[in-house]
Amino acid sequence: MIPGATPAFHPVIELAGVGRSYGDVAALAEADLVVHRGEMLAVVGPSGSGKSTMLHIMGTLDRPSAGTVAIAGHRVDSLDDREVSALRAGTIGFVFQQFHLTPGVSVLDSVADGLLYSGRPRRERRRVAEETLRRVGLGHRLRHEPHRLSGGEKQRVAIARAVAGDPPLLLADEPTGALDSRSGAVVMELLRELHEAGTTVVVITHDRDISASLPREVGVRDGRIEHDTGAPQLPAPAGAGVER
Ligand SMILES: Nc1ncnc2c1ncn2[C@@H]1O[C@H](COP(=O)(O)OP(=O)(O)OP(=O)(O)O)[C@@H](O)[C@H]1O
Ligand SMILES: [Mg+2]
Repeated sequence: MIPGATPAFHPVIELAGVGRSYGDVAALAEADLVVHRGEMLAVVGPSGSGKSTMLHIMGTLDRPSAGTVAIAGHRVDSLDDREVSALRAGTIGFVFQQFHLTPGVSVLDSVADGLLYSGRPRRERRRVAEETLRRVGLGHRLRHEPHRLSGGEKQRVAIARAVAGDPPLLLADEPTGALDSRSGAVVMELLRELHEAGTTVVVITHDRDISASLPREVGVRDGRIEHDTGAPQLPAPAGAGVER
């Protein structure tokens, strides 16, 4: 019952006073951030500044040592591990710099396997996987194994896997970091299209051109949010306001 419960009037991500320490290293401290449905934002900052730590906490892959996290209106600290897994599976897609595709598994099955949690039958999972791969321009590579793909193609498979279940939130950690500039541009264009289709997208990047081109930029330094250009004015979602 938790997956998919994303009332329009709840922010998708709410971090309040969030900190994460490893021993005496404060990887993240006092982070306050609200991301609304339909936003697309960049998280920028030097190496070691806490960007991945923040993304892992937003993605419920890690729990904070201080503060509170709510995803799609659900306070993560009020959920047990099984409930957090269900929330994550139904709400969040992930894309990482190193693709994380399994050797020997075809492109089609890499994406179809991402839908295992959904409980849909295999044939249906494969149908949705094929449709999503066509959407990312890989309809002609369904039977290929990852080692026969270019870096940009691998990342498009990873994006297809992340979005095949239609999650409202996509979190990407340096998705263009391992790509040449042309493949990186294709991947960014794909993320922009998903954003235009309604997905909320958070992109960690070192690339100043990319971050400057996105509607919002959050800068992190030494574990702290040092700037946030803020959410641009979005049209109110249909039905929002009625509840306020
Ligand atoms: N599992 C861990 N154990 C101990 N320290 C950690 C752990 N994960 C991260 N850190 C430390 O926390 C700080 C922030 O790390 P984080 O991975 O969030 O940085 P980042 O901004 O993503 O850097 P990069 O751009 O290099 O990926 C770093 O000093 C790092 O060494
Ligand atoms: Mg990182």
